[in-house]
Order: sequence, then structure tokens, then C-alpha cells
Amino acid sequence: KQQVKIGMLGLGTVGSGVVQVFRENGEELEKRTGLPIHIKSIVVRDLEKERLVDVPTELLTTDAQAVVNDPDIDIIVEVMGGIEGTKDLLLTAFRNRKSVVTANKDLIAEHGDELTFAATENGCDFLYEASVGGGIPIIRPLRKDLAGNRINEVMGIVNGTTNFILTRMSQLGVSFEDALKEAQELGYAEANPASDVEGWDAGRKIAIVASLAFNSRVNFPDVDVEGITSITSTDIEHAKQLGYAIKLIGSAQEKDTGKISAQVFPALVPLAHPLASVNGAYNAIFVRGNAIGEAMFLGLGAGQLPTASAVVGDIVEAVRNFHAGTRGKFLVDCYAKKEVQSALE
Ligand code: NAP
Ligand code: HSE
Repeated sequence: KQQVKIGMLGLGTVGSGVVQVFRENGEELEKRTGLPIHIKSIVVRDLEKERLVDVPTELLTTDAQAVVNDPDIDIIVEVMGGIEGTKDLLLTAFRNRKSVVTANKDLIAEHGDELTFAATENGCDFLYEASVGGGIPIIRPLRKDLAGNRINEVMGIVNGTTNFILTRMSQLGVSFEDALKEAQELGYAEANPASDVEGWDAGRKIAIVASLAFNSRVNFPDVDVEGITSITSTDIEHAKQLGYAIKLIGSAQEKDTGKISAQVFPALVPLAHPLASVNGAYNAIFVRGNAIGEAMFLGLGAGQLPTASAVVGDIVEAVRNFHAGTRGKFLVDCYAKKEVQSALE
């Protein structure tokens, strides 16, 4: 095959970022993968809607089934969100031997195992670097680069919207509501922003990274979650006077019993701690392993281009595997293993 064809599901914040990255870095991507990559179809809900990027109208369709069943398409890029209907589309894509790249943490946290089995069974790649930490590489390091470690803890700021809100409240005295509105306008928030501010999004991300870090199945409903809706400007001010910043922290650690405990909660972080100065939509994730010691991954955790950076990185991996005939050969994470059981306390 002389080129790789992509079918995209979604052209919102992340999808338009992916199109933009292809537009700006297309030549470079071809050099890196050895194959030209073409976006053949893009599924949206509303064909008339004004888009963040210009795309030829003939690329747009509302028929997702046609795209995941199109024999000419090699890779599906899922950036539309949703759980059950989206899972069914991706299972169809795998049955049709298409690799899948997704940014959808809700879907991975809920059905990562079923989807990874399906990918493995059909010899396809299933890549989801953008599902945690936006543009920060964290999934691939946990799957590959840190695989030589026994990991004891993962901990950090994994939601850009809430970190942006807390930063705006702390630095500019902006109200919670106005800061949330700004985060939505900047494309950081989920379609239902309760997912961000109630801590569910962070909880799902912690479930995903903990599953990979501890080679176990950590399920979102078992993560102890508290969001930031009860944090007031007065709380933030008092914390500052006492030498602390309030940050929404997600963490998971392996206990002496071998069980894992995972939680998301607004924490008082000493101002001298590196996490206290992680502001705006930045995320930071610490990983503590018995060989590496402590490693910190820092970068923009939400938004159009940072998230697209991770999605396109996964597309590059999928295209390289496609080119080399090694699709689906490296899915070795816990989600692909049937014997892995839930490991939470
Ligand atoms: P978004 O701006 O709301 O875009 C969603 C896109 O999907 C829109 O183009 C929408 O079509 C389309 N879509 C949604 N449901 C559809 C359906 N049932 N059928 C056809 N098209 C449908 O969302 P986003 O912020 O780009 O997020 C997309 C995914 O990436 C989500 O899973 C999100 O959690 C994840 N994510 C987002 C970020 C971020 O910073 N925004 C970061 C990491 C991961 P219309 O445009 O026609 O409505
Ligand atoms: N709503 C998410 C956040 C997007 O704010 O972190 C990135 O996953």
C-alpha cells in the first residue's frame, strides 16, 4: 500500500487540532513514517456547523458506520467522546482490522479491557496516549520505558480544567463560575463539565494510569473521588496565607498487602513543592519506581494542539506498525490480559 488512510470520528477541539497538526507537519510526518497519510472521512453530528479549521465539505459525514466499515480506511481516530455507542463503533473497526487511536478516557476507563482484547484478537493497534495528561507522554512511558520498574506510586495533577480554575481563583480572584466558563471557551472542559469539577475525569485518568503502572485492573468506581465544587476563594486565600496551594490531586499507591488504593481529592500542597507551581491547564504526574526513583512528567494537560500532539504521536506509531507489518504486536499492557483482576482495596 502506498499511503495510509484515516477516518476520524469527531472534529471538535481535539479533532480540529489533529487536522491542523497534519496540515502543518504533514511532510515531516511522511518522512517519519515512510508513508503519506491522508484523512479520508470525518464524522460529525452537524454538517452545517462552523468549524475551528477549514476542511473540504466532502470529507464530512454523519455516517459513522460507513466510516468504520470503509475497506479503504486503515486507521480510525476517535475524538468524539461517548461510551457505549463509541465502543460499538470501535469494536466494528477492530473486526474490520483497523487500528484505533483515541483520546477518550471515559471509554478506556470503562471498556479498556474489552477493546484491547478485540484489538489484540484482530491484530490491530489500540493507542490512547491522549487519554491522560493531554500532550504529556505518560501512557507510552508506563507501557514501555518504565516497564523495568516495580512502580510504587503514581501521583499528580491530571485535570487541566480544575487546575485552570484553581489557578484563576488564586492568582486573579476570578469566581469559580467565570473561571469554568473561560476553561470551556478555551476547549479544556469536557462536554459535561461536571466530569471535570466533580473529579470524575481525574478519577478515570488515575484508574487508567494505575492499571498500567501496577499491571492490575483499577476500576473507576473504586477510586475514591472528591472534586473542587466546595472550594471557595476564601479557602484558597487562607491556604495561601498558611503557605499552601490547593490542587486537585490524583494518586494511586501499592500497599504492603499488594492491594492498590486510588483517590482524587483537593489537597493542600506546600508552596515549595513542585506541584504548587504547576498552574493553568498544565498537568504534572510523578511516578515512583524502584529503579528510576522519582520521575516527573510535566506539560499542557488539555487543549486543542497539546492533545492533538499526543493523538498524532499515536497515529505515527500506528502507521509505522502498519508499514512494518507489526500491527497489534506490542499490546502488552494489563488491559490485554484476561487474568488481570481488579486490585483495589
Ligand atoms: P468536542 O469539542 O465536543 O468535539 C466532539 C466532536 O465529535 C464534534 O465534532 C462532534 O460533532 C462530534 N460528535 C460527538 N458525538 C457525536 C456523534 N454521536 N456522532 C457524530 N459525531 C459526534 O470534544 P473534544 O474536546 O474535542 O473532545 C473529544 C474527545 O477527546 C473526548 O473523549 C474528550 O474527553 C477527549 N479529550 C479532550 C481533551 C480536550 O482538551 N478537549 C483532551 C484530552 C482528551 P459536531 O461538531 O458536529 O457537534
Ligand atoms: N477536560 C480534560 C481536562 C481534558 O481538563 O483535563 C483533558 O483530558
